Amino acid sequence: MNTHVTQDTPEASPGTVGFAMQGDIAVLTIDNPPVNAGSHAVRRGITDGIAAACEAGAAGAVLMGAGRCFVAGSDLREFGKPLAWPELPDVIAAIEDAPFPVVAALHGVALGGGLELSLGCDYRIAAPDARLGLPEVSLGFIPGAGGTQRMPRLTGRASAIDLICRAARIPATEALTLGLVDGLAEGDLLAAALAFLREGPRPKRLARTLPPPPEDEAAIDAAARTALKRGKGRPNIAEAIRLVRASDGDAGTMLADERAVFQRLRLSDDAFALRYLFFAERTAGSVDGLDMTAALRVSAAGVIGGGTMGQGIVRALLAAGLSVVLIERDEAALATALSGIDASLGAQVARGRLSASGAEQRRAALSGAVDYGALSGCDLVIEAVFEEMSVKQDVLARLEAALPAEAIIATNTSYLDIDEMVQGLSHPERVLGLHFFSPADVMKLLEVVRAARTSDAVLASGLKLAGRLGKQPVVARVGEGFVGNRIYAAYRRRAELLVLDGAAPEEVDAAATGFGFAMGPFAVSDMSGLDIAWAMRKRQAASRDPQARYVTIPDRLCEAGRLGRKTGKGWYAYGSGSGAAEPDPEVAALIDAARAEAGVSPQSFDAGTIQRQLLAAIVNEAACLLDEGIAQRASDVDVALANGYGFPRWRGGPLYWAATEGRAELEADLKALAAAVGHGFRAGPVAEVLAGLDTGREG
Ligand code: COA
Repeated sequence: MNTHVTQDTPEASPGTVGFAMQGDIAVLTIDNPPVNAGSHAVRRGITDGIAAACEAGAAGAVLMGAGRCFVAGSDLREFGKPLAWPELPDVIAAIEDAPFPVVAALHGVALGGGLELSLGCDYRIAAPDARLGLPEVSLGFIPGAGGTQRMPRLTGRASAIDLICRAARIPATEALTLGLVDGLAEGDLLAAALAFLREGPRPKRLARTLPPPPEDEAAIDAAARTALKRGKGRPNIAEAIRLVRASDGDAGTMLADERAVFQRLRLSDDAFALRYLFFAERTAGSVDGLDMTAALRVSAAGVIGGGTMGQGIVRALLAAGLSVVLIERDEAALATALSGIDASLGAQVARGRLSASGAEQRRAALSGAVDYGALSGCDLVIEAVFEEMSVKQDVLARLEAALPAEAIIATNTSYLDIDEMVQGLSHPERVLGLHFFSPADVMKLLEVVRAARTSDAVLASGLKLAGRLGKQPVVARVGEGFVGNRIYAAYRRRAELLVLDGAAPEEVDAAATGFGFAMGPFAVSDMSGLDIAWAMRKRQAASRDPQARYVTIPDRLCEAGRLGRKTGKGWYAYGSGSGAAEPDPEVAALIDAARAEAGVSPQSFDAGTIQRQLLAAIVNEAACLLDEGIAQRASDVDVALANGYGFPRWRGGPLYWAATEGRAELEADLKALAAAVGHGFRAGPVAEVLAGLDTGREG
């Protein structure tokens, strides 16, 4: 028996389900730290607990979670293999068959299989802090234990399509409004659930047998259209919509249909890739041997520089509840930066993303100054000034003088050598890199850069801060471009060489988006502006190996005033009213000239070849930087690319992709890459890196 029986307290041994009688009510407590994932043992424990309650002649039962939440979902580690009996639908059947009402008491999160489990109960009571959702589609499959059937019978089909296809996690108050829960419990949750049962009568009430709420078909159609568009053609979205739409049909038939689709999709390529990424993301924020308890408390932060990046960082810090001092070089620049932040808070309110009182709180938590003396109360200061070594060194020296000894100093540099930057400081151990991506309050990725002298406590603080900001941290060592930008540079270089050798920019971009990238490399360049990379190339011109292949096209574009979208033209023209990118004959002529100058006879490349060459460049560069120890683990590279560079999540990441591809084909791609790059090409230890990557596909 997997149920741990206690006399009168609902406690359990970890990994099992506690059973206790409170008068004539059975209390089942799921205790599987840290998040009560619905493992096989938990499923057994619940069915055993229900059986024990029947045997004890219980008049009702409460199902709850110990620790921080109800149930965060089924145990994803079991999803790549055959599932052992009882499966979740068997557990729910036992609850439905019990002769007494069962109340699920929800706190923390009730997600995925956790929410489905509660929907299989007769009633649901939630703590006000609870969050509920069916996020399965974000993992490549669909709810498989009645989520697509029971939810719509409570909320209506349009809402269910929206919630399921958006993988939404909604607060308890919204769940109450939608009819997903029957009441909110202030104070003690168990006491509230027991009172709810005792106040009865609470007849059995199976969500599967409730009449579907009357609904406007047009609203269902609209929800389905929006979901399909957002779902970018992934097959699980269409299946989820189909099943919810049909949830007014025979429940038994529909539950069996849902289960069959779930069983197929949980073993699909998308699902394996997304599960891999799920665990890779959780690992990326950790450093072996690092004592996270050494992290310093950060409640007041400073930001130096109120440009686009600085403003984004301020917004991210404010959103996490920190107080922020923004420093600019003069009053005029400060006023511009502060009004920019003010305006974007206003825009968030207007879009319904932030409440008016929330915006006011953030405004009150922000102050500005032109004097570093205003930073004396800060625990952490992030500099986001011009990307120039001497400028940054000057800022760091001034910060060291102005800040209390224990305050952390972070640089948002995206390329510069932090070890060089801290030379001359008395306490370089207090400096780390926090490399945000623009817009800093939106983009998930945060590279946490561990410089040679960064202390463990400062590194731990950076990682903890990333969590508070809701960011996905990836730890990097110092090296030009760290992890993400370095790999991106190799990818962009390969894209440019493809153009020099015969592909059109729009063919390369179409191949990249065809693979699943959010945007192609040339559309990205146009969006971010071509001038920053141009300036960098000019700086590096003297040290460039003259024998290496050099693509002059971007320089020629810049010389022609084509700096990207901001000048109305770059790799593309943006002349027409819609602002859409259009291939431009002027660019084609410029490319032809560059080919002639380089003595290249243009070849044609099909989309598949372009895709595989772009991927080969990424994979090879990743192997190089892993070899140099810039990234900690192969899976961290996948996390960085999927969270900061528009790499399609459902492909797991470039190294996961490569590890699941045929080796012979990949070797041929790498050979072709070496030939195309030519002089100076460095082959990374790709085979070794891929051999060490656990894709989770075996065993
Ligand atoms: N199955 C297995 N393990 C899970 C899990 C699941 N469904 N959900 C979380 N975990 C594990 C994590 O891997 C992590 O393990 P680790 O400590 O060994 O790294 C641990 O639980 C804590 O999770 P983490 O995400 O680091 O904590 P958090 O406090 O930031 O977030 C949740 C907690 C529950 C919000 C988050 O884990 C989550 O969203 N879980 C998945 C929800 C989901 O998709 N459920 C549907 C599955 S059917």
